[in-house]
Parts: sequence; structure tokens; C-alpha cells
Amino acid sequence: MPKLVGFAPSPIRGPRPFPLVGTMARFVRFLGDPVGVLLALRPYGNVAAVVDRNPAIIAVFGADRIREVLSQPAIFHNPEDLFTGPPGSAREKLRAMMLTSNGDAHQRLRQMIAPAFGRAALDGYATKIVAQTRGVLDRWPVGSAALADDLCRELALGVAVKCFYGLEVLGDAAELGRLMTQFVRTLTDPANILLPFDLPGFTYRRGVRLGEELARRLRALIDEKQARGDASTDAMGLLLAARDDDGAGLGADEVLALAVELFIAGSATTAMTLMWALFLLDQHPHVLAGVVEQIDDVLGDRDPTPADLPALDRLDRVLRESMRVLSTAGALFLRRATQPTTLGGIPVPEGANVVMSPLVMHHDPAIYRDPERFDPERWTTLAPPAYSYLPFGAGPRTCLGALFANQALRLILAMVLKQFRLRTVEGTRIDRLVRGNILHPRHGLPMIVERRVGGRDRAPARVRGDIHQLVTLPSEQRS
Ligand code: HEM
Repeated sequence: MPKLVGFAPSPIRGPRPFPLVGTMARFVRFLGDPVGVLLALRPYGNVAAVVDRNPAIIAVFGADRIREVLSQPAIFHNPEDLFTGPPGSAREKLRAMMLTSNGDAHQRLRQMIAPAFGRAALDGYATKIVAQTRGVLDRWPVGSAALADDLCRELALGVAVKCFYGLEVLGDAAELGRLMTQFVRTLTDPANILLPFDLPGFTYRRGVRLGEELARRLRALIDEKQARGDASTDAMGLLLAARDDDGAGLGADEVLALAVELFIAGSATTAMTLMWALFLLDQHPHVLAGVVEQIDDVLGDRDPTPADLPALDRLDRVLRESMRVLSTAGALFLRRATQPTTLGGIPVPEGANVVMSPLVMHHDPAIYRDPERFDPERWTTLAPPAYSYLPFGAGPRTCLGALFANQALRLILAMVLKQFRLRTVEGTRIDRLVRGNILHPRHGLPMIVERRVGGRDRAPARVRGDIHQLVTLPSEQRS
């Protein structure tokens, strides 16, 4: 839980709270809808306070100010107490994650893990991604409406359990995936953050129990791999073999924490990125037609390989644009000032929490003309300055899985588009929900799964909801 009280008044301006309960109510609203709160703070300048003159949560906008934070990880720390738990519990051991480590501890982990997601490891993953995706797509419910978020979650889950843990058996993989998903949901639930009490009926307690179950299963998997002397090319195999500069391997708790971290960092992010791209393509049939035409030309009847990706430049632009306009990274992790400092010359006290939003940055009209328009072709000439395009963050803590994710997204999306057409159900309400920093559709996104037959083009479905605040859709707005 970030420190929210005990700060002296600061010069940083923001909306004034209502008397008495107003300050806490604004912080709770921020946890519930960080993107909505940040969009409303834009008129207060590039350094703004969620509550007027209160530096507990400071929003930072614009590439220059974001660079100031992200390029100084020694001053702006990642939150170390994001995953608290009773002493000795699995939840508490998750503190060993990279996301919640700073300084030398973070650097050591990053160096040890990086090879598992570097260029040299990518080809090994590609075959697994394609095989896993094929298996999932063969079971898609053609002719019916399904939640596109669930379909994409299943795709990402299959890839994660196969590439990260090397699981072969679908049943085991699905069960581990379900457990992971439930665990992540409890961790990112505001009730878990605001009420961290190990008491019956509390989300926090549910998270503690799920954490123990998850740790038990992951430990069994790790033990089995170690007993086999597994030299496999899945990420866990590579982590178990990793050595630091002194020749030491990762400790048991570190391996456990990193196994969970890979899933937390790599699964829902990939799923939601796929889903938003499919939604935007459905809303822009002329863009979809162009992408599919190129996929057909390049692939014919076969599945994609990494060697095909450079020729699929339309797909590349679609993903870049979709990760801009509906960036899955609604916000970055809060950074905490470890000492009194400044941002853009404005004093920031020790302990202040800083929030940055890739999604809001990507809607800055100074960098992106007509920012709410989905226009993949802008990427034929656009080269955004450093720290202004942030789907994977930026600076020394930029996403470690970006190369992996970029390859996986392109392979999976090419396979989906080659075979299927997903149509949003008419009248669907799409409101944002940012959980664990990730942009989800609050009520799910129902789409009808059709086999691709070509030729017929129908007008895209009209949708309602606050999605219209983020992207201009060709369909008429009906709130
Ligand atoms: C489309 C998919 C993905 C998106 C949009 C995404 C986005 C991000 C973002 C925005 C950050 C920076 C967070 C911050 O600065 O607060 C990040 C960090 C990270 N991501 Fe990803 N990510 C994706 C996939 C993956 C995958 C597949 C993996 C692992 C295999 C991964 C592992 C990580 C790790 C370990 C970090 C923390 C790095 C550090 O703190 O040094 N991500 N990701």
C-alpha cells in the first residue's frame, strides 16, 4: 500500500477535494480508474497532484518529465511492498520478483533472466507459439458469440505455460493457468490493496491461500525439472541454468517468485493486446482487408515463422498503432521518491508516489496528430521521440519480454486473421477497467467468431461506453 498521508503541503496543483472525506475518496477513485483520473489531470500541467497540493500521488505527463523519472531508478524506486503477505507465506516470498526489487538486487535478477528472453532464444519459442496457437484455434467456437477477452486469454495462457514452464499436458497447463489467473486477480483487486487483513471473507486471505497452492504446484514443477537435469529451452529451464557473475544460481524463493512474475508480466498483457487489436480491426474493415491480403500473399496456406514477419509490415503497423491508441499498459507501476528531489524544477518530497500512463502519453496531440484516430499508416513516417511511445515502458526497467511479446503477438495474430473473422456484438458496452496496470474491457468484449470467407463486408457494430473517450470509432456513438 503506497504511503498516502503525512505529507507537508506542496506547490503541485490538482483538483481540490471535498472537505473531510474528499482526499481519501479521490485516492480510492484513482485506484478504481487511474486512466480516467489522469485524463482529467492534464489541464494541471506536466506535474500534477491527484489531490490539490498533496504530493502523495503525483501524475507526470510528457516525454521530458517521464524521462526524468524512468531514467533515474535510484531516485524513483519500484514499490517493494506491492506483494505483502504473512511472514513465511508464499505471497511474502514474491517480494523476490524483479518488478518489486530495486538497485543491485534488481540488476542481478535482470542480468540473469535477460538471456531467456533475448534474440538468441526467440526462434526456439516460435515453434512452440505456433503449435500451441494451432491447438487452441482448432477449438474456437465457430458460429457463436464468445468473450474475445477469454479467447485471447486462452491463447496467451497456452503460450505462457508452454514457453515459460515447458508444460506439455494440456490439462495440467490449463489448471496451472487458471490458478495463476485467479491469484493475479486477487492481487490486483483494490480490496486486496486497501484491506490487507488475513481474515475470513477478505480478498487478501483468498490471495494468501491461492499463493500457497500456486507455490506448491510450481515447486513440484521446478523439482521435477531439476531432477531431470532439464536442459530445455523453456524460460524456467533457462532460469534454473542461469548463473550470476560469481557463478551462483538463483535461490529457490527467487525461482518461485520469477516463475510467478513471468506469468503476471507476460500473460494478461499479451492477451489484452491481442484482443484490442482484433477489436480495432473489426471496427476498421478496410485496414483489416489490407492486412489479411498481405498475410495471404506472404503465407499462402502455411503457418507463419519468424522469417515471415519482416514481410508482414501491415500487421506490424496495426500492432504498433493498436498498442498506441489502446495501450494495454494503462499505467506503469507507481514509483516512489527515495529522497527529496525535483521534477521539471518542482520540488517532490521523499516518499511521494509518481504515476505515469503510457495510454495517456500516447494521446498527446503534440506527438500524435489526431491521437484518437486508429491510423496504422501513420507509422510509415512516424518516429516518436524517446519516452513518448511506451507500450513496453522505457529506460533501464523497460519490459524484459518485449522481443518475445512482439514476436508472439505477430505470429498469433497472423494465424487468427488467416482463419477467422471476429465481429463485435451490436450494441456492446465497452468501459475501461485498469487492473494491475492493464487495460481490460470492464464487462468483457463479446464477439462472434466466424470462419473467414472473404468478400462480404458488413458495417462494424455500434458500441457504447467510455471507449469513445480513447478512440474514434467509425460506428456511431450511443452512450
Ligand atoms: C504485449 C505484452 C506486454 C506488454 C504490453 C508489456 C508491458 C510492460 C511494461 C509497460 C513494463 C514496464 C512497467 C513499468 O515500468 O512500471 C513491463 C515490464 C516488464 N515486463 Fe512486460 N509486457 C508484455 C509482455 C511481457 C512478457 C511476455 C514478459 C515475460 C516474458 C514480460 C516481462 C516483463 C518484466 C519482467 C518486466 C519488469 C522489468 C523490470 O522491472 O526490470 N512482459 N512490461
